[in-house]
Amino acid sequence: MVVVIMGVSGSGKSTLGELAAQELGGRFYEADDYHTAANINKMARGEPLGDEDRQPWLAVLADNITKWSRQDGVTILACSALKHAYRLQLKGESGANVHFVYLHGDRELIYDRLAKRENHFMPITLLDSQFATLEEPKEATYISAALPGLKQLEKLKQFIKSI
Ligand SMILES: Nc1ncnc2c1ncn2[C@@H]1O[C@H](COP(=O)(O)OP(=O)(O)OP(=O)(O)O)[C@@H](O)[C@H]1O
Ligand SMILES: [Mg+2]
Repeated sequence: MVVVIMGVSGSGKSTLGELAAQELGGRFYEADDYHTAANINKMARGEPLGDEDRQPWLAVLADNITKWSRQDGVTILACSALKHAYRLQLKGESGANVHFVYLHGDRELIYDRLAKRENHFMPITLLDSQFATLEEPKEATYISAALPGLKQLEKLKQFIKSI
């Protein structure tokens, strides 16, 4: 199965995803690693990506998700997946075996975390555009970004067990 951990930049997707994959003996991927250099440069300049920029990225991710969903075990993908249409595209045709977990948190909490984070290409100035783009999912399991990492891990493991 594939579990996509979604949410705005700084919500804790990579931190939780990496931890959970380790704990479950699963694979972990970063959606950021599938961006073109042009997209990475654009974000690093502080310019938000639009639908057009995200299109080739989502297409490549959707292909990979299909492949991963057919493999044994759990694959965890950290991916912002901000809009409903993006999530539909990521799920692909059948959507079988692809589950979304949403790390939700308010702007203040996430702003504070991003202000302290080091060595990451995503500038804090893009946070407002991330919240503006975000369409909160109906189809996802919610985990609060405000919880300590180990509590989040526990909830995620419970969810995966229940699938
Ligand atoms: N549960 C948590 N409690 C406290 N701090 C956390 C928690 N989860 C993550 N953090 C911290 O918040 C910051 C953002 O986390 P992380 O880089 O995992 O977010 P992200 O969603 O992957 O962001 P991006 O989309 O920009 O890659 C990091 O400095 C991380 O150490
Ligand atoms: Mg990340």
